[in-house]
This record gives sequence, structure tokens and C-alpha cells, in this order.
Amino acid sequence: MTIKNVTVLGSGIMGHGIAQISATAGYNVVLRDIEKQLLDKAMEKIRWSLDKLVAKQKISEQEAQEIFARITPKVELADALKDCDLLIEAVPEIMDLKKKVYTEVDNVADKKTIYASNTSTLPITEIANITSRPDKFIGIHFFNPPQLMKLVEVIPGQKTPKELVDLTMNFVKSVSKEPVLCKKDVAGFMINRIFIPLVHEAAWTMDRTKASMMEIDSAVKFCLSFPMGIFELADFTGLDVIHKATFEMYSRDRKVINPHPLIQQLFDQNKLGQKTGAGFYVYSGEKYERKNLSEELGKQFNPIQLLSTILNNVAWLITNQVSDVQEIEKALNLGMGLRKPIFETAKEFGIANIVKELKSLAKKYGSFYEPDQYLISLQN
Ligand SMILES: NC(=O)c1ccc[n+]([C@@H]2O[C@H](COP(=O)([O-])OP(=O)(O)OC[C@H]3O[C@@H](n4cnc5c(N)ncnc54)[C@H](O)[C@@H]3O)[C@@H](O)[C@H]2O)c1
Repeated sequence: MTIKNVTVLGSGIMGHGIAQISATAGYNVVLRDIEKQLLDKAMEKIRWSLDKLVAKQKISEQEAQEIFARITPKVELADALKDCDLLIEAVPEIMDLKKKVYTEVDNVADKKTIYASNTSTLPITEIANITSRPDKFIGIHFFNPPQLMKLVEVIPGQKTPKELVDLTMNFVKSVSKEPVLCKKDVAGFMINRIFIPLVHEAAWTMDRTKASMMEIDSAVKFCLSFPMGIFELADFTGLDVIHKATFEMYSRDRKVINPHPLIQQLFDQNKLGQKTGAGFYVYSGEKYERKNLSEELGKQFNPIQLLSTILNNVAWLITNQVSDVQEIEKALNLGMGLRKPIFETAKEFGIANIVKELKSLAKKYGSFYEPDQYLISLQN
């Protein structure tokens, strides 16, 4: 099967970006939302983004116009799905809403249409099974903003055939992104399974060690080679997104996160990060702001507890045959911006020390920290 016509459902943060990159790759795109005003706004954002690319001389004005012309906004669902080869769904992360949307879609979609969900945390198989075609259903998890982020996780459900996996991986490459295959439909897939628990762990670490947020963040940035501190990254991502992901992942698998109450508290107080002026940190204005982290501050704190949590989750993904070292390193580099492979950092700290740290944490704080077999096997 060849993909020519792509319909993106939902024109919000993710949908408009996915529509833009698909049109840039030459696909005919229909962008669908429930109200015309929402689509007008989305098309304005796409125009703005294309104009920026023209200003930076990445594309010509004519190319920008051609890309823009390949996107047709539509409200009427049946019309939006006419002759659609690939549907990419990016409606809000609410299971009941996704189910409702897929039921409506199922009533009008062509037999040939493949369904791909951009969900970050919901089970692919569960959504697939409410449709008439779980064998034509797959997860395609773009990162925010899709225009800039290279990584896409591809997640087959239980009934997704290999041909559809291959087709989706090729589609991702065709829109100039790098796919990683998340072989099993596990809570958080790959990146969120590492990132979300880490935010909670950073909050626990602050309680347990009395290190300051700036010290922890500086160590994460300068000793673990992250592009920014973990609290900074959480504020940038949004505490609403983290709170929601925590809820969904924890409901699916209790072992995946050791939830820290601060996340719930910040969410309840509407301290959602950069966008509300406060999250873990306080921000002075509307403009995107970075904290003054330094190598010196980073030296005040040993981030081995955080590194151990990352490594334990990475090891879990390997032991459970969700992915392998190479793919995970690629995902961490492209999805979280790690400047150095995580196993290189782990070797600097010593795998045996990491296992020892996890055992000691397990003794003090419970079985959540028990080291994974794969890590244990690596220490010799
Ligand atoms: N925002 C992120 O950082 C991010 C990153 C990766 C994946 N995701 C996932 O992408 C999906 C969308 O997230 P978002 O942040 O773009 O949400 P959003 O709220 O910005 O946009 C969702 C859009 O879907 C529209 N919508 C609602 N019902 C609809 C329907 N029946 N048909 C068509 N459109 C409908 C809404 O009007 C809204 O414009 C979610 O599953 C989310 O988990 C989000």
C-alpha cells in the first residue's frame, strides 16, 4: 500500500505540527477539528511556522505556499476521511474521548484507512480493540514540537501486523523523522517510561538529600549530559502533561513510577511550569526562561540516585524486550536531548556502584528500586 492522503484529527499543539510536516513531505493533508475557529488558528500557526522557515532560508516562499496549499482544513468528519490512506489522531489524551472519536471515525472511514494514534501514554491495544480494525491500528508518537523534534516512537498493538509496522516506520522516515520501534505496548512506551519517573525521583531526591533544586538540576545538566535540568525540563514540558502522564502510566502499571505528592500539589495549585509563570521554579515573564545552572553548583550534588533510576528503567525495557541498547540511546539522544550515551555515563559512575545504589535505595524505600536483572548482569 502507498500512502498519499493523510488526515490529521485534532489541530492542537501536536496536530497542526504533524499536518505541517506531512504536507512538507508532499502528502495531501486534511486537518480536521470540531470547530472552524480552531482550524483557522491552526492554519495561522502553520503559516507562521512556514514563514519562519522562509526567513531562515530553509525553504523558498514558493515552497511555503505549496506546502500550505496541500493542507485542507475541514470540520465535517466524513468529508475529512474521504479517500484517506492514513489517519493520524491527535485529539486530547482522554481515553473516553479517544474511544468516542474512533467510534465515529469507524462509521465513515474507507476500508483501506490505517489508524495511527499519537497518544503519549494510553494503551494502543485497548484503543485498537474498540475499532473494527485492530489489525490496521498502530501508535505513532511524535514529540513536541513535531516541526523540530526528530524522534517518533512507533508502537504496534497486539494485532498490528509486521507490514503495518514497516509501512509506518517508512512513513516516519518520509516526513524526515527518526523512528524507534517500541516493540511492546508498555506504559509510557520508551521515553516517557524514563522521563516521567525521573521527575518524581528528582522530587524524592530533594527530600532525601536536602540538595537544592538548582544543585540537582546543575548535576543533571553537567554530570548526566542532559540539555537542561530535570526540574527545568518538567516546567518546560508542563506539570499538567506530567501529572496526566503520571496518572495514566501509574494506572496501567504500579511498578513504573514512585509518585511524589509534589507533582499533584503543583498541578492542584495550577503551577504548571513556564506557561503559568510558576512550576517547580518561578518565572519572571512570559518569555521562555532558563535557570542559571552551573558546573560549580553541579559539583555539590552526586546524581547517582537519579542515574540509577534512569538505568533501571532502561534495563527494564531491555529485559522485557521492548527495545535494545542502540534504539534506547537513539531515543534518549533525539527525544530528551542527551549529549552523551547513557551507558557511557553509567560506566563513568560504575555499573556496580549503580547496582549498589539501587539495592541500598530498595532497602530504605522499598521494592520499586530493586535493580533489574540486566543491570545486575552487566556489573561484572
Ligand atoms: N502536547 C504534547 O506535548 C504532546 C506530545 C506528544 C504527544 N501528545 C499527544 O497528542 C495528542 C494531542 O495532544 P495535544 O497536546 O495536541 O492536544 P490539544 O488539546 O492541543 O489539541 C487537541 C485538539 O483536538 C481537538 N479535538 C477534540 N475532539 C476532536 C474530534 N472529535 N475530532 C477532531 N479534533 C478533535 C481539540 O479541539 C483540539 O484542538 C494527545 O494524545 C497527547 O497525549 C501530546
